[in-house]
Amino acid sequence: MGVNLTDLREVLQSVLSQSELNFLPRRFKRIGHVVILELPAALQGRAQEIALKLMEFTGAKTVALRTGRITGRFREPQLKVIAGDPNTETIHRENGCQFKLDVAKVMFSTGNAYERRRIAELVSPGEVVVDLFAGVGQFSIPIAAHARPSRVYSIEMNQAAFSYLLENIRINKVGHIVKPLLGDCSEVAPRGVADRVIMGIIHVTPRYLTLAMEVLKPEGGIIHYHETVPSRLRFQRPAERILQAAGKRKVEIINQRVVKRYSPGVDHVVIDARIGPKE
Ligand SMILES: C[S@@+](CC[C@H](N)C(=O)[O-])C[C@H]1O[C@@H](n2cnc3c(N)ncnc32)[C@H](O)[C@@H]1O
Repeated sequence: MGVNLTDLREVLQSVLSQSELNFLPRRFKRIGHVVILELPAALQGRAQEIALKLMEFTGAKTVALRTGRITGRFREPQLKVIAGDPNTETIHRENGCQFKLDVAKVMFSTGNAYERRRIAELVSPGEVVVDLFAGVGQFSIPIAAHARPSRVYSIEMNQAAFSYLLENIRINKVGHIVKPLLGDCSEVAPRGVADRVIMGIIHVTPRYLTLAMEVLKPEGGIIHYHETVPSRLRFQRPAERILQAAGKRKVEIINQRVVKRYSPGVDHVVIDARIGPKE
């Protein structure tokens, strides 16, 4: 849940000067009971006062300051609690599901909520879905809870995220559908089984396109391919990469959309591509 800028500016008028107010970010991120603050250098010295006002305004129990970008293979956040309860383990509700996670240990992008609902709505009864980068179950859990797939394989190689994935399967009561697999998807993903493959990661996704083709059933299926792309190449570069990985298999781009702006001039996009049968 984001906090509306106009309201926040009103709330912070009592603690910030007019020029400081101009540096306020558009939105703050909220995951469960934790608000995550991302402040420009000009406001770092006022973080504490902003945090206390935010707690008062939003009812959040904890405010954590982002101290660096989400990094590494495990996409780990860099946060420091600056106000309230030091406990960063929380339960976040999204699309009618519950996600337990420690926001200081594993990432959860609230900006992808619509995308996760969209995918759950696309899944037909009986489908086999493979979620190659499952995280804490952001895609797998709503698919299992709201669609009627026969099986969702959820692959995650970070032990911390995997433990929460197991917990979230349990609390959302989808253990009869979701099969969690711990490990690197290039090693543990089942081959030749999927009607649909979800590639919910950025930066490294192109490296796993060949794997996605192998994971699909021989008769073909759909991949959801995420990538961060300079805006001018928005849909062209990902489509070219999919075509190349598919080799002789037929490719039909059935949807393409911007999930969110990643950074100035760079978009996070997703391409839905139907891949034809193996020859
Ligand atoms: C950015 S998170 C995204 C989670 C979810 N797919 C989403 O889009 O909201 C990506 C997750 O993929 C995991 N991961 C990265 N490389 C992986 C690999 N080769 N095999 C399995 N999991 C991987 C990371 O540990 C991280 O938890």
